[in-house]
Amino acid sequence: MRAQLALVTPRVIGSVVMSEVLGLAGVSVVRGTKTLLNNVDWRVAEGERWVVLGPNGAGKSTLLQIAGARMHPTRGVAGILDEVLGAVDVFELRPRIGVASASVAHQIPEHEKVLNVVVTASYGVTGRWREDYERDDERRAFRLLEEWGVSTFFNRPFASLSDGERKRVQIARALMTDPELLLLDEPGAGLDLAGREGLVKRLSELAADPMAPSTVLVTHHLEEIPPGFTHALLLRDGAVVAQGPMTEVLTEENLSTTFGLPLNVSNNAGRYTATARH
Ligand SMILES: Nc1ncnc2c1ncn2[C@@H]1O[C@H](COP(=O)(O)OP(=O)(O)OP(=O)(O)O)[C@@H](O)[C@H]1O
Ligand SMILES: [Mg+2]
Repeated sequence: MRAQLALVTPRVIGSVVMSEVLGLAGVSVVRGTKTLLNNVDWRVAEGERWVVLGPNGAGKSTLLQIAGARMHPTRGVAGILDEVLGAVDVFELRPRIGVASASVAHQIPEHEKVLNVVVTASYGVTGRWREDYERDDERRAFRLLEEWGVSTFFNRPFASLSDGERKRVQIARALMTDPELLLLDEPGAGLDLAGREGLVKRLSELAADPMAPSTVLVTHHLEEIPPGFTHALLLRDGAVVAQGPMTEVLTEENLSTTFGLPLNVSNNAGRYTATARH
């Protein structure tokens, strides 16, 4: 236990205290007879930008649920923003973490106005009710919508937006509380080519912003990795195949093992592509 807790407390390197954003030690999640995550160790330091890759059912969303303090591990220790899951009030921890995922999107009421989708994040709710929002909150929400190129829809019902527009609104919402950790679960799913390229460009700009939070992006597609992302974690059947600095991890061998088929992988000016090797 002592060794596990050492993993989730700040590390001192020289005289510099490295703040650990995530420190998972031996984390498993079991439901019935199924092991969703199997003994995962993972450290994310402040400022790092991670991608999590793996096939359907690998456990990526489960890992993000743990990282977002939405789920507790069955075994192991999960340290998040210098707190330990199970020994912290998750309702205080969650506003420090921005999440954009299909499960958050499903909770947004159909008729909710786009501006409210973003502004309600300050209360950790979906659906504006009787909370009192400051004008400053609304201004910040509008500014985030502008930054993500969707402010013209501020008064439209969320459900009336296209998939791509909704994805951008969700990221604006995830950034509303100025989080220390940003978790994006497949933000590129369902986007057309222009939509995907626009998203990759914006995420690349976010990655380059030193004020932007530490980020974890889940995707199936190497083409969606924004240049400037620094690290990768590969998951298969709930277990880590490889993790670490992006260029070391995204090898043909590691990716072929992860996705279960022989792959050719190339990297052109920071953009990755993968195709099956025939
Ligand atoms: N309550 C549960 N009981 C049993 N199995 C579950 C339960 N919840 C999730 N699973 C299974 O756990 C596995 C991991 O799910 P998860 O959603 O984390 O995968 P994923 O990597 O995000 O997949 P995808 O790429 O399809 O989104 C899946 O096979 C899923 O069916
Ligand atoms: Mg998933």
